Amino acid sequence: MKGVVLAGGLGSRLYPLTKVTNKHLLPVYNEPMIYYPIRILVNAGIDEILIVTGGNNAGDFLKLLENGKDFGLKHINYTYQQGEGGIAAALSLAEFFADKDKIVVVLGDNIIEGNIKEAAEKFRNQKDGARILLKEVPDPQRFGVPVFEGDKIIRVEEKPANPASNFAVIGIYMYDYRVFEFIRSLKPSQRGELEITDVNNFYIREGKMQSDVIDGWWTDAGTFESLQHAGNMVEKTGANKL
Ligand code: G1P
Repeated sequence: MKGVVLAGGLGSRLYPLTKVTNKHLLPVYNEPMIYYPIRILVNAGIDEILIVTGGNNAGDFLKLLENGKDFGLKHINYTYQQGEGGIAAALSLAEFFADKDKIVVVLGDNIIEGNIKEAAEKFRNQKDGARILLKEVPDPQRFGVPVFEGDKIIRVEEKPANPASNFAVIGIYMYDYRVFEFIRSLKPSQRGELEITDVNNFYIREGKMQSDVIDGWWTDAGTFESLQHAGNMVEKTGANKL
């Protein structure tokens, strides 16, 4: 199983903090934001990792991460996203790297208190399909939200005005090789992006989606409020606990 960290985008919700640097290089308490998603993968036993970045500051990732020594890695792979296009567009650049293997995708601004070891192990043993992770949140309208029928997820809605549940689909996704085929058939959403939620709905329609609720806190860090919240939580409890 391989890992992909998506660290491109313009970070426009954090402007002017992101005027001269990439969002994922900003500090979250005592470390650059991208350290947290990389460690989520490493703690789950994944040591083949691709960073997808882009924009003017792509070179800074090499300078910061080098070959991954700080994470106990011997090597890190990098790829460059030209322009914008959304999470699924960024993920499509990982097809060559994935080489038909299963992948765990982490959004570069997602931080968790604990780890995904158990879910990753379940996905290693899952024959095919996908796996998403859920967390109950006070503000589901900001995220992808699962719609349940009993225990079963029947679809995910992206940023619904009237959320059907109090859960967010967090930015850690597990996919088999078919993800790239699904991405190719996507159409841009109203916000002009290829949505990862649409990819998840492909798997749900085929009856190939599993899910787990994660323990410990989870937050994104892509807005002023959530960036500050992330820093506070890391200070208070630490993150990426084994
Ligand atoms: C993205 C996804 C959303 C998901 C969230 C997790 O939102 O589109 O489904 O719940 O990441 O951080 P965005 O950061 O693009 O607003």
